[in-house]
Amino acid sequence: MPLTDKFGRAITDLRISITDRCNYKCVYCRTGNEGALYGDLPFAEYLRMARVLAGVGISKIRITGGEPLLRKGVVDFVRELATLRSSEGKPLDLAITTNGHLLAEMAKPLKDAGLSRVTVSMDAVDPGRFARITRVSNGYDRVLAGIRAARDAGLWPVKVNCVLMRGFNEDQIIPFGMFAREEGVTVRFIEFMPLEEERVWAPDTVVPLREILSRMKEYRPLVEIPHERSETARRYRFDDGVGEIGIIAPVSHPFCGHCSRIRITSDGKIRTCLFSVWDHDLHGLMKRGASDGEMVEFIEGVIQRKEERHHIGEPDFVPASRTMVHIGG
Ligand code: GTP
Ligand code: 5AD
Repeated sequence: MPLTDKFGRAITDLRISITDRCNYKCVYCRTGNEGALYGDLPFAEYLRMARVLAGVGISKIRITGGEPLLRKGVVDFVRELATLRSSEGKPLDLAITTNGHLLAEMAKPLKDAGLSRVTVSMDAVDPGRFARITRVSNGYDRVLAGIRAARDAGLWPVKVNCVLMRGFNEDQIIPFGMFAREEGVTVRFIEFMPLEEERVWAPDTVVPLREILSRMKEYRPLVEIPHERSETARRYRFDDGVGEIGIIAPVSHPFCGHCSRIRITSDGKIRTCLFSVWDHDLHGLMKRGASDGEMVEFIEGVIQRKEERHHIGEPDFVPASRTMVHIGG
């Protein structure tokens, strides 16, 4: 049985950030700075955390960053994670969220190591626009090659995350619809959230679900597909059955009531919400020699403190204690 928080939400999904370094500087996430702020841990420590958490009901693990593929040894880490079993004795659903820059070379080794799926961030299907958003000049072709390599390696379904930001890429909605159909990937549009380093978020920078849908319907009719309650995305397919898109709408249609996620940061802290104003030092506890049982006790206590919901756009909104690159998406 998974751990359940005080609002009755079962915690089944874990996201582990393995570095807070990133080689991209996307406008909705980073400033132009270079560095990691919090650093990272040896893989063995994340692995122990993952094993303990799998024992109390985690069935899905997503590896995040920063940019996780920058970390040497990530393929071996996946291989180790793939040996873990959920409390029901099943293999875990293992995924990675990546910017895709290094994916073309790594897709096959990751699949062979036991990775189930991959999600690639890509915010424009036009090289010039892509460079303006990521602030990296040679990325577009590499990311496209990465997406295709992942698909060809069987890291299926390949999902492409596109954060929409007004003034940058709202004109990419229809081109991404075409892209989803041509490339056989699921493109998910994400409403921009106030988690960026440069503090540029304002309500009118968000391109809301309603607008995404009506823009896409100018191109082709969409049919909604049922989705799991804990899933972040509402799912749609085009009327002729070719191509799937999703919309992740945490701002206009929050999904906190069905949240099943906790996160471990690259420096080993548990975060119970993207918008948490504090985190919980699991790694500190381990350093003091905690047993697995003591870790479980700590985790149970932390989960009881999971926030009910975020307060984006409300007068009492308090920014999260970390920006996205230091949490992991
Ligand atoms: P699947 O396993 O494929 O369902 O992945 P996912 O949707 O959990 O993972 P992904 O990393 O692709 O998440 C997509 C985006 O949804 C993230 O980049 C965030 O922008 C947003 N998101 C994910 N989790 C949360 C959450 O707990 N709260 C909020 N507000 N947004 C979230
Ligand atoms: N709002 C919404 N999504 C974001 N991401 C990064 N920053 C933000 C933000 N401010 C998403 C990226 C990436 C994932 C790690 O997080 O698209 O796919």
